[in-house]
Amino acid sequence: MKIGVLTSGGDAPGMNVAIRAVVRAGANNGHKVYGIYDGYRGLLESNFKLLNHHSVSGILTLGGTVLGTSRVPEFLDHEVRVQAAENLKKKGIEALVVIGGDGTYRGAMELTKLGIKCVGLPGTIDNDIAGTDFTIGFHTAVETIVDAVDKLRDTSTSHQRCSVLEVMGRKCGDLALYAGICGGAEFIWTPENPIDKDKMLKQLTKYKKEGRRHAIVVLTEKQVDPHALAEEISAKSGFSSRATVLGYIQRGGSPCPDDRILASRMGNYAIELLNQGIYGVAVGVRDNRMISMPFNNVVGQERPKNQLYSLVKKVS
Ligand code: F6P
Repeated sequence: MKIGVLTSGGDAPGMNVAIRAVVRAGANNGHKVYGIYDGYRGLLESNFKLLNHHSVSGILTLGGTVLGTSRVPEFLDHEVRVQAAENLKKKGIEALVVIGGDGTYRGAMELTKLGIKCVGLPGTIDNDIAGTDFTIGFHTAVETIVDAVDKLRDTSTSHQRCSVLEVMGRKCGDLALYAGICGGAEFIWTPENPIDKDKMLKQLTKYKKEGRRHAIVVLTEKQVDPHALAEEISAKSGFSSRATVLGYIQRGGSPCPDDRILASRMGNYAIELLNQGIYGVAVGVRDNRMISMPFNNVVGQERPKNQLYSLVKKVS
C-alpha cells in the first residue's frame, strides 16, 4: 500500500517521533510511505516525497515537524477536499496518517468519505482531544511551563511579588493544571476552573499580611487579560505583580521521554490499524493502552473534567 503521512495545525514536540514511527513501521510492513509537506497545503500542491528508513534518521530528538505544518482554511471547502483526494489517488496513495488536533481530524474525516483511508494521531500540546488521555507534545510542554514557573518563583520571592503566568491550551486547561500543580501555584485559572477574581484578591491580601513572599497564578489563555489582572493585583492585594505570557516557547523543544514513547507507540499502531483494514479512526491512549475510535466520536467532543482538579483549591 502507498501511505501518506502529514502533520497539520499547531506543531508539537514528538511529531517527528510519530513521523519516524509511521515511516519505519510502514516500510517494515512492506508499504511505501510518502511524506506530505506543510500539512493539507501539501495535498493541494501534490508536495509528496517518498521516505525511507534513512530519511527519518536523526529526527527523533528534534522539536517541530520536519514535514512542516499549516492551517488551511480553504480545506473547509468540499471542492478543495475533492481536489486533495484526487491528487493522492493520482499518485496511487490510498491511505493517510494525519498528525494534529481537532481541525486536522475534521479534514481527515472528510477525506475518508472521499475514499482515502485516514488514521489520525493526536498531535497538539493542548491535550484537548477527546478519546485519549494524552496528546503527543503535551508532556514536553508541561516540562517547559514548569521550568518557567520555577524560575518565576525565584524572582517573585526576591521581589515579594505575585506572578501571573499565561499559558496556551485553547479551551482546555490541562497545561495550566499540570504545570500549576507541579510548580505549586497558588491559583490555577482555567476554563474548567474559573476563578472569582474578588475572592482571589482577598486571599492574596491575606497571604501578603501573613508574610508570604510570593504567589503564582497560572492562567489558561483567553480567560482574562493577564496584564490587566497583574495591575489589579498590584493595586488591591498588597503584592506587586507582573504578568508573563509564555507564548510559542511552549510549542518548541526536544520531545521528553514520555512524548517519545507515546508518539512511537501511536505511529506503530496507525500502521497496525491500516494492516487490519481499519481506518476513519483516531488513535488514543487510554489507561496506558492503545485504542482507536471513529473520527465522529472524537471531533468536537468534550473531554471529561480532569480528575486532578480534586487537588486544586476552588476559588469560585
Ligand atoms: O497548538 C495549539 C495552540 O498552541 C493553542 O494552544 C494556541 O491557542 C494556538 O495553537 C496558537 O496557534 P497559532 O499558531 O495559529 O497562533
